[in-house]
Amino acid sequence: MIKDAFAERAAEWDQPSKIDMTTRFINELKLNINVQASWKALELGAGTGLAGLQLLPEINSLVAEDTSVAMLNVLRSKLTGNEQVTIVEGEIFEYKQNDIDLLFSVMAFHHLPSLETALAHIAGLIKPGGYVVVGDLMPEDGSFHHFDPIPHTGFHPEELKTKFEAVGFGVNKYYVYNTLTRERIPGKLSDYDQFILVAQKPL
Ligand SMILES: C[S@@+](CC[C@H](N)C(=O)[O-])C[C@H]1O[C@@H](n2cnc3c(N)ncnc32)[C@H](O)[C@@H]1O
Repeated sequence: MIKDAFAERAAEWDQPSKIDMTTRFINELKLNINVQASWKALELGAGTGLAGLQLLPEINSLVAEDTSVAMLNVLRSKLTGNEQVTIVEGEIFEYKQNDIDLLFSVMAFHHLPSLETALAHIAGLIKPGGYVVVGDLMPEDGSFHHFDPIPHTGFHPEELKTKFEAVGFGVNKYYVYNTLTRERIPGKLSDYDQFILVAQKPL
């Protein structure tokens, strides 16, 4: 069984810095696309729901997908049962319906082991005209994750754009929208830029 790298962090995840980070992402997403009340959205790497639960009042329903049961259990603890939220434990491949108007993801794409395979699957989930909005790190030196091995130390958005285009999306735009300042190396503050990328499936 694969170790849940977020198991020990889940209970302490909802810190002001994370709330601020996810709020900035959702605000940026809304600047770029006209979110509709009828939409079904899917959040890849939803974690404790910090981003998705902010968007939920503006859409019809949310699928919250994540590989960490511990993170999802924190999300579950926030739900009353009346929300239109479906939780998917596991990789994105566990979700198989072609009914998503908007897939979004903040700070989770760099954890995807095979980006090309995931994108090919995602292309099958999005309805014609639907969107994928990704917020993640620009290329970094590995210090953001304390030099632990992870699949991607950030992304060159132009390369990510090419990968989206390879599975049939148009990429409307990408740009840096936020900078995280963190002390990942003791005694040294480092800046980590975050980009947003907006992709759309043709009608
Ligand atoms: C940095 S956290 C971000 C969580 C949330 N998006 C937020 O901003 O608060 C990364 C999340 O991605 C999840 N994750 C890691 N690998 C994943 C994968 N292959 N598929 C889906 N989620 C994954 C982790 O369990 C974790 O919840």
